[in-house]
Amino acid sequence: MAAADFFSRFSVFAFVFSFALLSGFTLAGDPFVSYIFEVSYITASPLGVPQQVIAVNGKFPGPVITATTNYNLEVNVYNRLDEPLLLTWPGIEMRRNSWQDGVLGTNCPLPLKWNFTYDFQLKDQIGSFYYFPSLNIRRASGGFGPIVINNRENIPIPFPKPDGEISLMIGDWYTQNHTALRSILDSGKELGMPDGVLINGKGPYKYNSSVPEEIQYETVNVDPGKTYRIRVHNVGISTSLNFRIQNHKLLLVETEGRYTSQTNFTDFDVHVGQSYSFLVTMDQNASSDYYIVASARFVYETEWQRVTGVSILHYSNSKGPASGALPVPATDVSHPWTVMNQQRFIKQNTSAAGARPNPQGSYHYGQINITDTYILRSMPPTKINGTLRATLNGISFLNPSTPFRLADKHNVKGLYKLDFPNRPLEDKPPRLDRSIINATYKGFIQTEKVHITTGTAVSRSTIEVYPGAWTAVLMSLDNVGVWNIRVENLDRWYLGQETYMKVVNPEENGKTEMDQPENVLYCGALKSLQKEQHSSATSILNGHLNLIVSLAMVLLASVSAFC
Ligand SMILES: *[C@@H]1O[C@H](CO)[C@@H](O)[C@H](O)[C@H]1NC(C)=O
Ligand SMILES: *[C@@H]1O[C@H](CO)[C@@H](O)[C@H](O)[C@H]1NC(C)=O
Ligand SMILES: *[C@@H]1O[C@H](CO)[C@@H](O)[C@H](O)[C@H]1NC(C)=O
Ligand SMILES: *[C@@H]1O[C@H](CO)[C@@H](O)[C@H](O)[C@H]1NC(C)=O
Ligand SMILES: *[C@@H]1O[C@H](CO)[C@@H](O)[C@H](O)[C@H]1NC(C)=O
Ligand SMILES: *[C@@H]1O[C@H](CO)[C@@H](O)[C@H](O)[C@H]1NC(C)=O
Ligand SMILES: *[C@@H]1O[C@H](CO)[C@@H](O)[C@H](O)[C@H]1NC(C)=O
Ligand SMILES: *[C@@H]1O[C@H](CO)[C@@H](O)[C@H](O)[C@H]1NC(C)=O
Ligand SMILES: *[C@@H]1O[C@H](CO)[C@@H](O)[C@H](O)[C@H]1NC(C)=O
Repeated sequence: MAAADFFSRFSVFAFVFSFALLSGFTLAGDPFVSYIFEVSYITASPLGVPQQVIAVNGKFPGPVITATTNYNLEVNVYNRLDEPLLLTWPGIEMRRNSWQDGVLGTNCPLPLKWNFTYDFQLKDQIGSFYYFPSLNIRRASGGFGPIVINNRENIPIPFPKPDGEISLMIGDWYTQNHTALRSILDSGKELGMPDGVLINGKGPYKYNSSVPEEIQYETVNVDPGKTYRIRVHNVGISTSLNFRIQNHKLLLVETEGRYTSQTNFTDFDVHVGQSYSFLVTMDQNASSDYYIVASARFVYETEWQRVTGVSILHYSNSKGPASGALPVPATDVSHPWTVMNQQRFIKQNTSAAGARPNPQGSYHYGQINITDTYILRSMPPTKINGTLRATLNGISFLNPSTPFRLADKHNVKGLYKLDFPNRPLEDKPPRLDRSIINATYKGFIQTEKVHITTGTAVSRSTIEVYPGAWTAVLMSLDNVGVWNIRVENLDRWYLGQETYMKVVNPEENGKTEMDQPENVLYCGALKSLQKEQHSSATSILNGHLNLIVSLAMVLLASVSAFC
């Protein structure tokens, strides 16, 4: 296989999945945190070219949602864009509550000028996540921001309390907006090389003459000797990024809600959709500032030089600007095994406490009874009926106009089929379909035909699949509802690489799945049930974020995808 082919096949799958613990209900008073998000366009020039980007409360990237395990989160979203909107929160356990997941299979999009309040609990969760607008490649224009879920006071974190917290949203970026990118794909072309990489919505520091003048870059201010928790999220379109900080070690401690075995790296590959926490100690002599770099991976790196994000790590006692060449990654992608080994180092620290005082634990994989095995095969985009589409197991997913679960509740039939093939269809031509997975409540699904023997695989929501390789994932089907499985690369997702998994409890008694929320939006076949909403024409925010903390009642559940 030619290298270009090899790289173009690279894709990262996001398994967005949840399951409920067997314990059922617990009632307890858990705090309520409430945010108001006004989503609108603002003009920004991250790569020196003015463009409309999606801001939340006037900020790009959007504000951080900070909460603690078990908090009830309420986010009242106002749509000030020119298109319908949904926000989604990958990795957040929508316990028994796929009604809040913010994807087309479960939610009607929020019409222009309307508002909608998402309401869910961060039950048994800790760690680093993010939110973003889920429809039609909109994330390519912004609208994303970090979610930080802290441990409860009485539960120790498995490292000394850091001196500070820093969130970095890294991602490839085009100077064309999401509608222009959609037109490119609709016309049957691929997106081509991005125009750059942004770090927290800003372009590269002018590290050499290849970087245009007048670009605003991000500066991270730190004090010597201190240790910071740096949360890194790849919110980009399709480029895997190598993250590194000149002269500094990255101590990996957490990924997507699980504490990991603590391992030092000089640089780390962060694939699209993934989140990591690193502890970084400011142990250098500050003879100058230091580069923070996020550069394209799994491409011809010399040709893709412009696809490099550069920010500045500035010590308070720094003696001068950063200069000289950028640091280079220690691992070489021309040796795929060495690159894969880095990911294999990610092990769950099973003895660390997570959201609960007891250890994060781990399943005894050998003893799991697998109820279903699915082999998902991602193929490069191809023409189906004259349009460019991408498939999983030969099926390119057609978005529903009525969310599946809502259709079920209201007895609208025939909107989808429960016949997603459990292996690639060798003998059939690729097709467009609304075909989803029929899953058995309390079963375990495996998405490869291999036996997993180690006991320290990490639970997470987004896992990479290397070109020509496979990744095995175990999913516990303990969360009733309809759940999205998708390729996180935005172009592939847009072209149809997704499906849903319907987890039904045949003995549903109102305890394993919440009823639809009171404010549920109707659309498609159920549009006539929707009441008009009086929209407020002017901003209700005045640029400020409203944060309210109070008390409420809660319910119980938890998440996993093993790899
Ligand atoms: C996006 O780009 C297209 C084409 O350049 C332009 O017509 C449109 O106004 C832009 N949309 C926004 C919201 O900036
Ligand atoms: C819209 O916002 C108003 C005012 O905050 C709130 O009362 C209402 O519940 C929101 N609507 C929905 C559908 O969430
Ligand atoms: C795992 O967590 C425990 C408990 O906090 C900690 O003592 C230990 O150092 C961690 N192990 C590794 C390998 O990170
Ligand atoms: C990681 O590197 C730092 C800085 O070199 C060192 O102090 C620390 O002991 C290392 N930690 C581990 C777990 O290797
Ligand atoms: C500071 O560190 C740099 C890089 O390790 C080294 O070249 C330089 O000599 C050091 N300067 C001082 C004053 O220690
Ligand atoms: C700029 O830096 C990059 C990466 O360090 C290097 O590949 C490139 O040759 C440099 N370009 C110029 C014009 O110096
Ligand atoms: C798996 O199935 C066997 C045979 O039905 C049963 O004895 C065992 O308890 C099951 N294991 C688990 C973990 O449910
Ligand atoms: C192509 O379009 C025709 C007419 O809309 C439809 O009947 C057919 O099923 C489509 N083919 C595929 C492979 O989806
Ligand atoms: C879905 O799975 C359940 C449980 O295995 C089975 O009873 C049902 O017939 C399946 N439905 C379809 C449409 O295959």
